[in-house]
Amino acid sequence: MITLNGLQFEEYISEEELLHAIDEVALAINRDFKGKRPVFLVVLNGAYKFATELLSRFEGDCEVEFIKMSSYDGTASTGQVQTHIPLEADLEEREVVVIEDIVDSGNTIEKITQMMVIAGVNKYCIASLFFKPGSYTKEYKIHYVGLEIPNDFIVGYGLDYNGLGRNLNAIYKLKTTKMTNLVLFGPPGAGKGTQASFLKEKYNLIHISTGDVFRYNIKSATKLGTLAKSYIDKGQLVPDTVTIDMLSAEVDKTPDANGFIFDGFPRTTAQAEALDVLLEEKGTQVAAMIALEVDDEILVKRLLERGKTSGRKDDADEAVIRNRIKVYYDETAILKGYYQKQDKYYGVDGVGEINEITTRLSSVIDKL
Ligand code: IMP
Ligand code: MG
Repeated sequence: MITLNGLQFEEYISEEELLHAIDEVALAINRDFKGKRPVFLVVLNGAYKFATELLSRFEGDCEVEFIKMSSYDGTASTGQVQTHIPLEADLEEREVVVIEDIVDSGNTIEKITQMMVIAGVNKYCIASLFFKPGSYTKEYKIHYVGLEIPNDFIVGYGLDYNGLGRNLNAIYKLKTTKMTNLVLFGPPGAGKGTQASFLKEKYNLIHISTGDVFRYNIKSATKLGTLAKSYIDKGQLVPDTVTIDMLSAEVDKTPDANGFIFDGFPRTTAQAEALDVLLEEKGTQVAAMIALEVDDEILVKRLLERGKTSGRKDDADEAVIRNRIKVYYDETAILKGYYQKQDKYYGVDGVGEINEITTRLSSVIDKL
């Protein structure tokens, strides 16, 4: 495993397999361009290594030209293709073989095709070391493909992640760990704590309650705890960055966990986005937001009951209880939408026997 710019990658395609794929492409090109004098147009930066290997296997006369284009930022396509070094050679009436590292959405190929038409080439074809059919949105034929791969982000052999990894001699894939990370929601009195402790046992998950994490960091006077306290003491909200750094440290304590139950976080879209980034950096993601659904009147009854025995002041006053429930719905409405858009929202009926509710939650988790 390797780390590039903080992301973990694992070996995916060996150098041997790559060279074998290049042999095959070279064989086909040698056959199709026998006795011709093609221009190989190398698309920088990523294709340099593939081009070197491919050209060293070309048996006839040829010329080599370069253009430099980019369409990626980090691990995602920007949808915009930029030309950094334009086509300078005269390709009129020439036979051109475009050498690409990878065809993903096809945006770059589209732009190059337009370039070829404008240049007035006699004929052109595309040779790409990799092709991701699952994300290809265009119709242009890719004449020579080394390897077809699924939609994973890869680095190595010329391809980069934010500038790094091009020098690697094998292909590495972004490491995704199959973790069951749950964001657990529920209005006050819904039984979130009770259910979290059952789920934690059953699925061997780590329960991260933001409140507990805060209290622990402040009590132990960690750097982040002290920082958080400085805001709290001034009556200010703790900035998201501090909270997320604390959660990140908490997640790092058990890197081999089966997953985490996030409780009390996120509370805003910005926090949800920050959580996505945090988990992505650790090669994982939120699997589901599960919200326990309980009718308001039942909640009020439950909390008033609890107030009688627990002595918790905020459970004794009906107006206070109703306001806490309202605050919950105000906050979660936006987050519900956020996770619904990603097909990750699951509402679970929180009324019934405790074990019945655990069973309902389990049937959601088992299908993730
Ligand atoms: P397209 O324009 O979406 O087809 O993307 C082509 C360009 O995006 C490639 O030449 C690469 O620079 C970059 N790219 C696409 N997929 C990956 C990948 O998995 N790793 C690294 N770069 C990639
Ligand atoms: Mg490229």
